[in-house]
Amino acid sequence: CDQKPAAEFTIGFSQCTGGDEWRRAMLNGMQRELAFHSNVELLYRDAKYDNQKQIEQIRELANSDIDLLIVSPNEDQPITPVVEEVYRMGIPVVVVDRRISSPLYSAFVGGNNGEVGKLAGQYIQMLLKGKGKVIEITGSPKSSPAMDRHQAFMDQVASSPDIKVVTINGEWEKQYARPALLQIIDQHRDVDLIFGHNDRMTVSAYEVCKEKGLLGKVKFVGIDGLAGKTGGLQMVSDSIFKATILYSPGGEEAIRTAMKILKKDSYDKETILQTAVIDSSNVHMMKQQTDKILLQQEDIETQQRKIDDQLKIYQNQQMFLYGMSGL
Ligand code: FRU
Repeated sequence: CDQKPAAEFTIGFSQCTGGDEWRRAMLNGMQRELAFHSNVELLYRDAKYDNQKQIEQIRELANSDIDLLIVSPNEDQPITPVVEEVYRMGIPVVVVDRRISSPLYSAFVGGNNGEVGKLAGQYIQMLLKGKGKVIEITGSPKSSPAMDRHQAFMDQVASSPDIKVVTINGEWEKQYARPALLQIIDQHRDVDLIFGHNDRMTVSAYEVCKEKGLLGKVKFVGIDGLAGKTGGLQMVSDSIFKATILYSPGGEEAIRTAMKILKKDSYDKETILQTAVIDSSNVHMMKQQTDKILLQQEDIETQQRKIDDQLKIYQNQQMFLYGMSGL
């Protein structure tokens, strides 16, 4: 006997990858916000960086009677047509974090990656006093955040002709960033700074430099600024990174926009999440704020476990009672 009332709304969520802390923080944020709406069910699919898989998962979700789709597209070109298809079926679409190359979506929620790249460029110009060698490790060059971050970063540092940039592709993950950097690092032992398109790849660059005896000389700047033991805030606070550029996952904001659409309230087509440089001057304040959220998250998880346990006990009792009455 299923005691759960049928959901009033079903939201499908197609995530390009689910395997890292940033994506987990996004999902946690969504679940925190969904706790205010007991009438909503979230159908979650992880495409594991595979365009074809994401296309199939989006189609499967669209055919599962969802009321709205949230999608973070792996690469914009291959995923755009299927998102347009869903939108044309009359299903509202909220695009998060990564963009598609079409105006056929209901709302976008995410950071301004041009601004992120520009801030990184300005900060690095300041750190290097306008002169030095930078290795930039990009995310997948076919994903919109990597394209926008790279372009804006290059445009910014172009105003410092004595800053030389060597760009390599780290595909967002340590497993690609590490070998890519190992391949070139011996030719660039004079590197002054490594700028990674996320904190995970930047940590792996730090490890490579440590192995190569380059620590002390090389500075590190990342992007994301997550809380937690391995997050960018900790790296800045431990002086491993000079800075990280905040890039919020925005799970709460995505659900808030989705709920407005579902309830036919007015909503913003573009919700741009704020960014900022986090360095030694403000990292402690940032950590205090995010530590509070982490504690709240733990509370929610404990509460959820208690509710689940209660529900199990209740269901067992029901089964026992039905058994006794011979139903
Ligand atoms: C997480 C991530 C972040 C990055 C974002 C860009 O999967 O790689 O680290 O900022 O995606 O889409």
